[in-house]
Amino acid sequence: MSSRKGRDRVVAVVGATGAVGEVLLGVLEERSFPVKQLLPLASERSAGTTVTFRGKALPVREAEPGAFEGVDLVFFAATGSLSKDLAPEAAKRGAVVVDKSGTWRLNDDVPLVVPEVNADALEKHKGIISCPNCTTIGFVMALEPIRRVAGVRSVVVTTLQAVSGAGRPGVDELEEQIAARAEGKALVPKTFAAPIAYNVVPLCEKFRDDAYSTEEVKLLYETRKIMDMPELEVTMTCVRVPVPVGHAATMLIETERPLEPEAARKALAAFPGVEVIDDPASNRFPTPADVAGRDEVLVGRVRRDLASDRLWMWQVSDNLRKGAATNAVQIAETLVARKLA
Ligand SMILES: NC(=O)c1ccc[n+]([C@@H]2O[C@H](COP(=O)([O-])OP(=O)(O)OC[C@H]3O[C@@H](n4cnc5c(N)ncnc54)[C@H](OP(=O)(O)O)[C@@H]3O)[C@@H](O)[C@H]2O)c1
Repeated sequence: MSSRKGRDRVVAVVGATGAVGEVLLGVLEERSFPVKQLLPLASERSAGTTVTFRGKALPVREAEPGAFEGVDLVFFAATGSLSKDLAPEAAKRGAVVVDKSGTWRLNDDVPLVVPEVNADALEKHKGIISCPNCTTIGFVMALEPIRRVAGVRSVVVTTLQAVSGAGRPGVDELEEQIAARAEGKALVPKTFAAPIAYNVVPLCEKFRDDAYSTEEVKLLYETRKIMDMPELEVTMTCVRVPVPVGHAATMLIETERPLEPEAARKALAAFPGVEVIDDPASNRFPTPADVAGRDEVLVGRVRRDLASDRLWMWQVSDNLRKGAATNAVQIAETLVARKLA
């Protein structure tokens, strides 16, 4: 193991042609991740097309078990069922897997990691590491600094989620509906449950039998696992909004000890990867447009609830970067730095 740090890796990206995969390739390049060879993988539909990495066009191959021979590190950014089938195949061949899908997140043998919050969980990995849902990452990045200074009892959260959270089909649907509306045509929902152009839709993914959506329950169970707080109360509504990139959320936080808004701002600003933009006097607050293309989680609107001791805040993060690609690459960087991959 000790020889692992310092050498360049053979890296595969499954889902290299998708919304997250494309950003992932860019983030690996930007952060100079030690890549000796990059293997872009996708479905058979994309086999023979190319993606660009470090200025070179690389041919895309179909993802299948044999593709992982000789690979050190695999990022999965495709579908949950593909991760279920192929992540163990990659691990079996000696690769370390960083998975972006929901498949492995709540598995007891799989660390679920946001490096700024729980990097130590990586020490126990068994070949597969899971990256939380995009909504959960921004949420825990904003909650952890508050927990560290005042403890947290409960949170009520409403998310406002960008269409790219549903991948390329989501982005295409917003653009098609904007064009259709300009031409006076009907808006036909496919990816989303109702028209998303000029509208908001209080359903991300699909409903469960208990009337919560599958996206909503991720916030509860993933947060409890990452923060190692099995009793934490998180109650939520997830809403899709006609924004290309950048998930936002309002958070109403009940702390264990009293916390003044100014002390909360200070704790947030001191936390790595969080930036506070909060000046009501000059209308300064962060928006999805401000965070698109950035890795920081931006927090504003920090204020005391008028009816209780709880704290309100608002956070935005780029769902494709910190919510997906950047967090995955940070996990890989931590594995390399700790000689765990
Ligand atoms: N979008 C986000 O904000 C976000 C955030 C966090 C996590 N995630 C997760 O990241 C993953 C990718 O999401 P995305 O938004 O990038 O989706 P996307 O834009 O729809 O891309 C899906 C990718 O998966 C590939 N793929 C699909 N079926 C495949 C198969 N059977 N075999 C091999 N490759 C296959 C596609 O290849 P083809 O081009 O060949 O079809 C494409 O490269 C998902 O698990 C998603 O839940 C997404």
